[in-house]
Amino acid sequence: MSGLEVWLRRSRTCRLVRLAGFAAVVALSSLVAAKNLARPGPSAPGGETKLPARPPATPVSPKPGPQPVHSPQAINAHGYTSAMVCGSCHIDIYDSWKKSLHAFSLSDPVFDAAFMLALRDAGDEARRLCLRCHAPLTIANSDFDLREGVTREGVSCDFCHTVVAVHLDNYEKPFVLEPGLVKRSVLRNAASPAHQVAYSQLHETAEFCGACHNYVAPNGARIMTTYDEWRAGPYASEGRPCQDCHMVRRVGHVVSADVKEDSGKQIHLHDLIHDTGQLRSALTAQVLSATRTGDSLAVEVEVENIGSGHMVPTGVPSREVVLTVEVESGRRLATQERRYHKVLVDKDGVVLRRDFEALLRAAAVVTDNRIAPREKRLERFVFVVPDHGTLKVRATLSYEYAPIILDQREINIELVKVERYVP
Ligand code: HEC
Ligand code: HEC
Ligand code: HEC
Ligand code: HEC
Ligand code: HEC
Repeated sequence: MSGLEVWLRRSRTCRLVRLAGFAAVVALSSLVAAKNLARPGPSAPGGETKLPARPPATPVSPKPGPQPVHSPQAINAHGYTSAMVCGSCHIDIYDSWKKSLHAFSLSDPVFDAAFMLALRDAGDEARRLCLRCHAPLTIANSDFDLREGVTREGVSCDFCHTVVAVHLDNYEKPFVLEPGLVKRSVLRNAASPAHQVAYSQLHETAEFCGACHNYVAPNGARIMTTYDEWRAGPYASEGRPCQDCHMVRRVGHVVSADVKEDSGKQIHLHDLIHDTGQLRSALTAQVLSATRTGDSLAVEVEVENIGSGHMVPTGVPSREVVLTVEVESGRRLATQERRYHKVLVDKDGVVLRRDFEALLRAAAVVTDNRIAPREKRLERFVFVVPDHGTLKVRATLSYEYAPIILDQREINIELVKVERYVP
């Protein structure tokens, strides 16, 4: 039995429980999110709601948290070191990272379910493909059976901080890696007793993130293109990389004071920020006009991507944003909608709706009407209405995502709602 099978078998029962529990959480938190958004005003919480796609905090490593190691000897000079060890000194950064989807890139139940299906479908080929980004240590240590705890940490500290170069034109092997004693990032005058340090300009660039946040299949299908979308948009030319929005600076200790008293007092948040607050900051909608002529009502709605550095939605192709326009006069008279999404097909032209199928078998993109960064999109609708009485027009934008967990559940988050009266 392979290490992977052992791991899967051992965790199967607890996986079922965890997934069942998680499905309930998804339903509940999307309800809560929709409720908060539906009724803005003083009673709405000012804080940010974490997106429902957050997995429960199940530690992947046997130990509950960073141990007080503080010891340079704990650093593996020739391979990868666990985030637990890094976290014993870099406490604030560890706390932030462990909340991120990078820390759950292998144990996130949404990935888990897709990975299982992909393994069933394509076996070893899928394993190598998926783990390349979801458990990237495998690129260097070839631990495809996930025997080592550190491999199961997913997108972990030591992977990112030992990358020396990326070549985005090499889709299969974009990273140049040097695991070991030298840790690289953006501090110019760092000095550490635990490991060597090196300043790395690469870590300030979008290319660094793009090596995973872009997936072009060997057949040329552009499956996941967050980096390319950013590159083609205004933020690239303004010099605003992914980190500007997803790794902002906050007060915090680069290392705990007992390790080095005068180390930096600001850190880059590693939790990636992505939450409903960030989602809602991406788009606006406006009812520009609603013109009644006899029994016809022409409505113009403008949707604008004001806050996202790439298309909305981005990433895995199963996500959609839906614009719904409703006309009411006491009761609901009519509803129309537009969907913003990317649709992929396999080589026979069959539409691929599930993430794992799209990732494994996509051959071409047939539609892509997602909203580009800073794009304003004008949408026109015509309704048949009674020729008298005041009408109310309501435009709502929501984010829809139906990942497979155990049974398929839908996440629906209302982003924007605007109303206008037509006498
Ligand atoms: C024994 C404590 C300790 C441990 C363990 C430790 N570090 Fe550090 N690290 C430091 C100190 C001290 C600094 C320097 C901070 C400064 O000068 O402000 C540092 C600096 C860094 C830097 C900044 C480099 C630069 O030039 O920008 C990175 C990146 C880093 N560590 C990553 C890691 C990673 C990854 C691990 C785990 C493999 C780790 N560290 C483990 C103490 C530690
Ligand atoms: C080694 C590959 C890798 C690198 C490098 C990487 N990411 Fe990720 N990232 C992932 C994976 C895999 C996920 C999804 C994990 C999951 O949900 O299963 C992810 C998730 C995310 C998410 C959360 C998406 C969500 O749905 O909430 C954001 C935001 C993000 N990454 C931003 C970045 C930024 C910014 C950088 C560069 C500083 C970066 N990533 C570098 C692999 C990577
Ligand atoms: C997805 C890749 C990625 C992962 C995973 C990651 N980091 Fe970072 N880290 C970065 C990037 C990129 C920066 C620089 C951000 C910038 O300049 O905007 C950074 C900055 C740092 C710094 C310099 C101080 C600062 O906050 O700017 C330290 C130290 C550090 N990370 C340690 C860690 C530790 C410890 C972990 C694990 C608990 C970790 N990192 C996980 C990419 C990563
Ligand atoms: C100008 C700010 C900004 C920049 C720059 C930016 N993003 Fe985002 N990002 C957002 C906002 C806002 C959202 C939420 C709306 C959305 O999903 O597009 C988001 C969402 C995401 C998501 C989650 C998608 C989802 O629907 O769950 C990922 C992954 C991501 N960004 C990665 C990146 C990467 C990689 C880069 C750089 C190539 C980048 N972002 C650049 C603002 C930004
Ligand atoms: C080129 C890197 C790359 C490869 C290869 C890759 N992924 Fe991902 N995957 C990502 C990134 C980056 C994200 C986060 C994107 C986002 O959230 O927008 C992600 C997100 C996902 C998600 C959504 C997770 C969530 O919480 O919403 C699923 C499911 C997924 N991947 C499954 C797979 C499977 C299964 C495979 C193998 C067939 C695979 N991925 C191969 C980089 C990759």
